[in-house]
Amino acid sequence: MNVRYERCLGGELFTAEGRRILDFLSGYCVHNVGHNHPAVIAAIREELESCGPAMLQSHVAERAGELAEQLCRRAGGRLTKAFFASSGSEGIEAAIKLARANTKRSGLLYAKGAFHGLTCGALSIMGEAFWRLGFGPLLPDTEAIPFDDVDELENKLRTRQFAAFIVEPIQSEGGVRVPTAEYFRAAQALCRRYGTLLVLDEVQTGMYRVGTFLAAERYAVDPDMVVLAKALSGGLIPVSAVLMSEAIYDSVYGSLRRAIIHTSTFSENSLAMRAGLATLEVLESENLGRRAIQSGALLRRKLVEALRGYEMVKEVRGEGLLLGIEFTSPRSLRLRVPFEAFMKIHPAMFGQIVVMRLFRDHGILTQICGNNFLVLKAAPPLAVTEEQIEEFVAAVADVIEMAHTSGAFWSEALGLARRAII
Ligand SMILES: Cc1ncc(COP(=O)(O)O)c(C=O)c1O
Repeated sequence: MNVRYERCLGGELFTAEGRRILDFLSGYCVHNVGHNHPAVIAAIREELESCGPAMLQSHVAERAGELAEQLCRRAGGRLTKAFFASSGSEGIEAAIKLARANTKRSGLLYAKGAFHGLTCGALSIMGEAFWRLGFGPLLPDTEAIPFDDVDELENKLRTRQFAAFIVEPIQSEGGVRVPTAEYFRAAQALCRRYGTLLVLDEVQTGMYRVGTFLAAERYAVDPDMVVLAKALSGGLIPVSAVLMSEAIYDSVYGSLRRAIIHTSTFSENSLAMRAGLATLEVLESENLGRRAIQSGALLRRKLVEALRGYEMVKEVRGEGLLLGIEFTSPRSLRLRVPFEAFMKIHPAMFGQIVVMRLFRDHGILTQICGNNFLVLKAAPPLAVTEEQIEEFVAAVADVIEMAHTSGAFWSEALGLARRAII
């Protein structure tokens, strides 16, 4: 899949060999406004050409204030302050420190299957042990509970040892897992009761990916902190943000002595701030939230129709344009034998063959989830058209039909298996 791309525009990628690839991955939810949006490029160019203050570290950066205000206004609730950084992981690191300082507790609670990033703090709360192997010792006092399980959450919170419950509103890499409607309301009430901060990792779900500015809105929760990254940059300049309540901000930064107690050189840099402001403007002027809901419903309906009856397809699920197709071991022996044999060689094998076929035979870019290899992502840029949706659905249906009927699908898998074993 490593081809040489020459131009990337909207939802389409053009290679040096003259191929056109349709993007249904969006760089794991980075490209909500599409690739190289002209308005974001113009804003960044204007910022560069203005020769304004950048990274002075000695004054209040106005653009950072502007972006903080815009983000907090949209997030609502108790979120009135922002800390900026350059990646999702850095945002999670900040949230961990802020939560510990605010609560004077050390414990961190997270959900199994979660993906929060690969720096040491974030890695300490990753839902799969695989990512941690060889990098320890990591942070102490972290504990995992099953996602979407209120009783387990209460059992842990009751100990009053946890500074924060850090959780994705929808587990993206965990397999596009959508919680039950009541889960976050209950989680919020429990967190308040036991003095634990509710921190939502909206790195993939935020910025209108699921229709609303934050996925939190869909669950009517009012978190203590929210981490944003990925799509906030417009796909061009790295930036992340931690939105927090006044109380958290004051407890950490609220004295002259501690006014710069957690910061970073590239935090608040003018290019990133400008990119964030321009991205918000595009998301809203093009109604990309509403379009995510409409296109997501269409994509989901068409996928369900096209994949109905295939033994290897378990479910199509998700919200807005964060959808996943879950595969499962087939019932019939003829199909189950190769499916399970390849799963034994590597659990990602089946999904990777589907991904490769989509890319090579149909010019579609997508991937399986990082913590759940049986789920294929369907997450295009939010302005995806009906024709592009039809193209994707037809391609997926074709590959799945092939997996059920053709020996060629499994002989390809054999080639990949050989490389996996070597
Ligand atoms: C939900 C979530 N949180 C945090 C991160 C870490 O973000 P970054 O890769 O920018 O450090 C990711 C990255 O994929 C993510 O999906």
